[in-house]
Amino acid sequence: MRSPKDFFAPLALGAPAPLREIPFRPSRMIHFFDPSNERMRAKVPDIAPTVDVLLGNLEDAVSAGSKDAARAGLIEVGKAWERGHTQLWTRVNSLDSPWFLDDVWALCHEIGDKLDVIMVPKVEGPEDIHYVDRLLAQLEARVGIEQPLLVHAILETARGVANVESICLASPRMQGLSLGPADLAADRRMKTTRVGGGHPGYLVRTDPAPDGDAGDDARTAFQQDLWHYTLARMVDACGTAGILPYYGPFGDIADPIGCEDQFRNAYLLGCVGAWSLHPSQIAIAKRVFSPEPAEVAWAQRVVTEMGDGTGAVMIDGKMQDDATVKQCRVVLQLARDLSAADPELAAAYGLETA
Ligand code: GLV
Ligand code: MG
Repeated sequence: MRSPKDFFAPLALGAPAPLREIPFRPSRMIHFFDPSNERMRAKVPDIAPTVDVLLGNLEDAVSAGSKDAARAGLIEVGKAWERGHTQLWTRVNSLDSPWFLDDVWALCHEIGDKLDVIMVPKVEGPEDIHYVDRLLAQLEARVGIEQPLLVHAILETARGVANVESICLASPRMQGLSLGPADLAADRRMKTTRVGGGHPGYLVRTDPAPDGDAGDDARTAFQQDLWHYTLARMVDACGTAGILPYYGPFGDIADPIGCEDQFRNAYLLGCVGAWSLHPSQIAIAKRVFSPEPAEVAWAQRVVTEMGDGTGAVMIDGKMQDDATVKQCRVVLQLARDLSAADPELAAAYGLETA
């Protein structure tokens, strides 16, 4: 048993006090790069200003033989990093791997004051977060890191999905969750070999004609979203904990339309961003996770016409009341938060930047 009062006490003597609110910082795209690759490291100064989050990936997609080089490469990038609008994140190896402890130890010692968020893969339950929470507090205290490191969990096992609420609520360090559709598909024994996105076999079909004459060709089939259930659970769990949900990777780089559709479904459901695995996905995420100027203008109109936000009015034949004004405030707040770092977007929305 633990007193709620202790929840915000540091878990190690000398560690910084945990944050009480997770700050909303634009993170429409979490752009992955492999720090073991010298060519990719050389591109960091050009790519960093074009993304909200740059993530040095140490886990899957980095071969076992390159793990040390990836860690060292990220440290090199972190040492040259100047904190600004773009955040620097990492995805460390999983808790059961031979690399996790060295990853966290080295990163905290070398660039613990530059990293914003540590993404932890294959989180299965709150006990995983408790372990990471205490370890980070010990390292923060040991190294003298002043700003608490935040933790982002990837939801990519069946047990993780079953425990999603308690994962989100396990620590004040929890910043958000991403869906990991590839590992999750494998763990659940789903029969898709794709990294996220739809599947042409996952359908519902209209009924046969009563007389059977029209044949099966007349029956329309609609493809369904394989990830809807998990994303919706994630969004509710994150909302309950006051943290941020993200769609994860879309692996078919050659299918920008499919990628945009998947990202947009996640945006409409409540996610704030997605991963970009290739530079071509940066613009897609930026477009999808920034509200449309017409939507922002509409939201502004509703908020203005609703005055103190109570009662009901009709605007262009559509009923507005206390609830719709709240929906519009969500869109407006997002537009303001994104505009603060993006004068072009601020101009498109007609909003003043500070
Ligand atoms: C991402 O890590 C995934 O497994 O999809
Ligand atoms: Mg994975």
